[in-house]
Amino acid sequence: MLKLRNISKTYGRAQVKAVDNVNLDIRPGEIFGFLGPNGAGKTTTIKMIVGLLKPDEGVITIDGVNVWEEPLKAKSMISYVPDNPEIYDRLKGIEYLNFIADMYGVSKDDRRKKLDYYLELFNIKDAVGDIIASYSHGMKQKLVLTSALLNDPKLFILDEPMVGLDPKSAFNLKEIMRKMCDEGRIVFFSTHVLEVAERLCDRIAIINKGKIIAMGTMEELRSHAEERESLEKIFLELTE
Ligand SMILES: Nc1ncnc2c1ncn2[C@@H]1O[C@H](COP(=O)(O)OP(=O)(O)OP(=O)(O)O)[C@@H](O)[C@H]1O
Ligand SMILES: [Mg+2]
Repeated sequence: MLKLRNISKTYGRAQVKAVDNVNLDIRPGEIFGFLGPNGAGKTTTIKMIVGLLKPDEGVITIDGVNVWEEPLKAKSMISYVPDNPEIYDRLKGIEYLNFIADMYGVSKDDRRKKLDYYLELFNIKDAVGDIIASYSHGMKQKLVLTSALLNDPKLFILDEPMVGLDPKSAFNLKEIMRKMCDEGRIVFFSTHVLEVAERLCDRIAIINKGKIIAMGTMEELRSHAEERESLEKIFLELTE
């Protein structure tokens, strides 16, 4: 269970809160979409969940573990795919993957099995011997995704994961996200691709100017709108 309680964050001396009193409860087996306009506070929220930013107020727990007070314990349960795959350019792909696998204590056997599977699936097997500086944006994204799938995270967090992925890789990623939920994990991701959110998510939250303005299943979001209204239309109305 992922819990956010009264989470707020202001950057530096900014006048307004980037994240303003956010509360979330996400259950194992749920795939949760986090939507909102540019600058709404999605990445800031995500960075607080994964322990990269300290909330000014509030508490975040994963299975009861306070992310800020027990960071190693919390992080051992998390995999995080950031919005920008800024990784060690001078390492070879395989060196990066082994580094991450070492950090998470993934056994040699498990590591080999998973690498064989995901490198083939994402079609980057031939590139892992090259240095990361030579990768395209999408290749870096797929390398980070692969590294995030090496441990068996209870919580899989992705910040705009579809950006830069080719159609087949995006399809594969969606299948992986679904499968992870079926295994009882939590998948939490931000996206601007509303069709993906509509089709994939068990529940959705919309954040605007740091505040959650809507949350629920597609059915629940629709209950305030006209029947059969698309998520796009609901989103545009709510964030106007
Ligand atoms: N490092 C930073 N320093 C100062 N202000 C920041 C910083 N990062 C984000 N902000 C501000 O915090 C607010 C929320 O930004 P955030 O990156 O969380 O939005 P977002 O919902 O992820 O947007 P996008 O859809 O564009 O990725 C914005 O007003 C932004 O200008
Ligand atoms: Mg963002």
